Amino acid sequence: MGINILGMGSYVPEQILKNDDFTRFIETNDEWIRTRTGIVERPMAGWEPTWYMGCQASRKAIEAAGIDPAEIGLVISCSATSDFHTPSMASIIQDSVGAVNSGAFDLNAACTGFVYALDTARRFLETDDDLKYVLISANESLSKFLDFTDRGSCILFGDGAAAAVIERSDKLFSSALRSDGSGADLLCARAMKVPSEISCEAPADFNDSFPDLQLHKLFQNGKEVYKFATQALPKSFALAAEKIGITKDEIDWFIPHQANVRIIETAAKKLGVSMDKFIVTLDHFGNTSSASIPLALNEGIEKGLIKRGQKLALIGFGAGLTYGGIILEY
Ligand code: COA
Repeated sequence: MGINILGMGSYVPEQILKNDDFTRFIETNDEWIRTRTGIVERPMAGWEPTWYMGCQASRKAIEAAGIDPAEIGLVISCSATSDFHTPSMASIIQDSVGAVNSGAFDLNAACTGFVYALDTARRFLETDDDLKYVLISANESLSKFLDFTDRGSCILFGDGAAAAVIERSDKLFSSALRSDGSGADLLCARAMKVPSEISCEAPADFNDSFPDLQLHKLFQNGKEVYKFATQALPKSFALAAEKIGITKDEIDWFIPHQANVRIIETAAKKLGVSMDKFIVTLDHFGNTSSASIPLALNEGIEKGLIKRGQKLALIGFGAGLTYGGIILEY
């Protein structure tokens, strides 16, 4: 059983930071950022909560799908940057869009979130005959986690949301999800610490392998993540492709996670696929974590590049370290 993407929508914040704007806080320049990453500018949420962006994108996706939101049976929100530990962002979005007959939960697989969510949505549709539509919303405000004194990371990210309404279909589908938690400390942000009133000595054999992180600030080992990413993208495709015996030449569009154009170029070379077959949006969005694949997918559809009946490979990687691929017919 496959899925059909009925409709998509997106929202990006009004505030745009150009490369030169970063010279206000760090020693950098437009040329370094462009040549090392391919990024020119990125939207950053000045006032918009993450949930707000998700609601806006979701409303547009429902409108594009032309469905009654009361017929949505499940809302999955993927994010690494929720405004609240609780409630889930999915419940906020479910209420805002009028999905009054729906369950809702959050899913965090960092930048691979949309790939994980699509796979999860398909499984729900396969096992629950009463479920007609699933709404997936990928919403991120990485800017709220950024260390604006770390020039190696703060220039990479952007904020935004993209959503999709999914239904079951007999179209081509394959997916493969993976995680390598041995690299969990290469890309991380600490969410909480024990209050001083109740803290006590840890046992001698307890080992917190994570660096002594500032609360709510993203830590990144850029070089190691780069190495992982250039392996993870081609592997994600290979794992999903071999399940259904499809070759790279049969794929019309590759939609990779948008972190650094050099990572995408290296992956394209490893796969033996021309860059012309890759949708690249990071020049104007930066890395928007789980929103980056659906933002690129939606832009490809809106520009008329991606057409119904074409075969797509969605390949992602991110903190965790997670990675995974989906192959589907649009
Ligand atoms: N502006 C100017 N100079 C910068 C800079 C910036 N924004 N950031 C780093 N530099 C400097 C470094 O300090 C270093 O200077 P030095 O040689 O004097 O020490 C030099 O540029 C080279 O740094 P390096 O880290 O080797 O650069 P790089 O070519 O490896 O690029 C990243 C750094 C972060 C762009 C790259 O490693 C990367 O993209 N990693 C993957 C990150 C990622 O994808 N994260 C998200 C995953 S979901």
